Amino acid sequence: MKFKIQMMVLLLSATAFAQLQPASLKSAMKDMSTTLKTITSQAADATKNQSSAVLAGKFVQAAEASKAFFPSSANDPTSKTKYTEMMDLVIARGNELQMAFQSNDNTKATALLNQLVQDKKDGHSQFRQ
Ligand code: HEM
Repeated sequence: MKFKIQMMVLLLSATAFAQLQPASLKSAMKDMSTTLKTITSQAADATKNQSSAVLAGKFVQAAEASKAFFPSSANDPTSKTKYTEMMDLVIARGNELQMAFQSNDNTKATALLNQLVQDKKDGHSQFRQ
């Protein structure tokens, strides 16, 4: 009986985890984009910094999910490493963005958001077909 309950708990948490994880690179990128749009729209409003910090955490999670996939354009070890490095940069900036909102540094947050726009352009020109 105890074993059955343990198995049920395991199964339920595995299902919950699977539902939280995007199923493809495309959907993970979409999650990044949606979150970033909301952050950008409220980045200048310091009364929303708490919410923006939470959203930046969600953005980092979506970027980590994106990093776990490889696009078909990253088809050799060198380009795979490059892809991973670029996603690591995006993740690092996402973490910095969260810290900027937490410390009410909206000027820094705006600068980081601009850098993320550039990171996206660079990533897409190298890997998006
Ligand atoms: C702020 C950062 C980024 C945002 C907001 C973003 C957003 C997006 C969006 C909206 C799509 C289109 C999804 C769709 O077709 O509906 C996409 C696709 C894609 N992105 Fe990004 N992206 C970012 C950074 C990057 C970086 C750094 C790379 C590469 C290192 C990258 C590689 C790709 C690839 C390969 C696709 C095509 C995926 C597919 O259709 O299978 N992206 N991205």
